[in-house]
Amino acid sequence: MRIIKTIKELKLYRKACEKSIGFVPTMGALHAGHLSLIQQSIKENAQTIVSIFVNPTQFLQGEDIDEYPRQVEADLDICSRAGVDAVFLPSISEMYADDEPCIKAPKISAFVLEGLRRPGHFDGVLTIVLKLLNLTRPDKAYFGKKDAQQLFLIQNMLSSFHLPCEIVPCEIVRSSDGLALSSRNAYLSDDEKKDALKLSQALKKASEMIMQNQLDAGQIKKEMLEILKPLRVDYVELVSRDFRALSEVELKNSIVLVAAYVGKARLIDNMWV
Ligand code: PAJ
Repeated sequence: MRIIKTIKELKLYRKACEKSIGFVPTMGALHAGHLSLIQQSIKENAQTIVSIFVNPTQFLQGEDIDEYPRQVEADLDICSRAGVDAVFLPSISEMYADDEPCIKAPKISAFVLEGLRRPGHFDGVLTIVLKLLNLTRPDKAYFGKKDAQQLFLIQNMLSSFHLPCEIVPCEIVRSSDGLALSSRNAYLSDDEKKDALKLSQALKKASEMIMQNQLDAGQIKKEMLEILKPLRVDYVELVSRDFRALSEVELKNSIVLVAAYVGKARLIDNMWV
């Protein structure tokens, strides 16, 4: 497995690639969720490139960039065992200059939910993803449905800028008790992990209601909030797959989303219905 730290090296590596390329961008602290994206890429492409870069422009002032879990050696081991061909591991100065253009996320779909709570977050995500896609020029890039709004905005950027890359949405990987895997779960104590289960339990309740044809957003949110009561809830929302607010579930075109704090960790989860 090649470990690539500079853009110059990455460009040379990329130039020599002749067959299909799959790309999995990450911020490291890899877990089984990331691994599922990596495995899917390996299955569908001749070569797989993974990037590990804790992107400073997507963290807001006061967010957890300094504490964000970093475990590069373990990450490289996971990639190498999985059969990844190359890992791009750049420094901040390799990826950003002092004064340079950046992508502005769209006003409507990016400024609800995560974008409303974390203004500017998606500008940083889109800017780094565009840079990484331009450098790796993959046939397919893999993103998790766990970050549903991020996935939508990236698909939206690719279609607006006519980038010739297919985005592959990947299912959310959960632990056996239902908790959606996240690098930020590393912040949770054992007791907090139990509290964190309330996010997936609330989504399960929504799924049961929808199966019984209870499609009203207000009713669904009310039941979910009841389960989430012990937590500091940031939002519970029902949106369409293009992030319009919905008052009623549109089957096969809706996402139920939740964000809540457990201890100091801000967790998100969602369900596509
Ligand atoms: P990161 O949080 O490291 O996630 C990398 C990819 O893994 C994202 O596409 C995310 O949706 C996916 N992922 C995380 N947890 C998952 C789970 N439990 N199941 C399935 N997929 C999961 O998302 C980012 O990094 C950054 O914003 C990035 C796109 C790399 C830009 O900096």
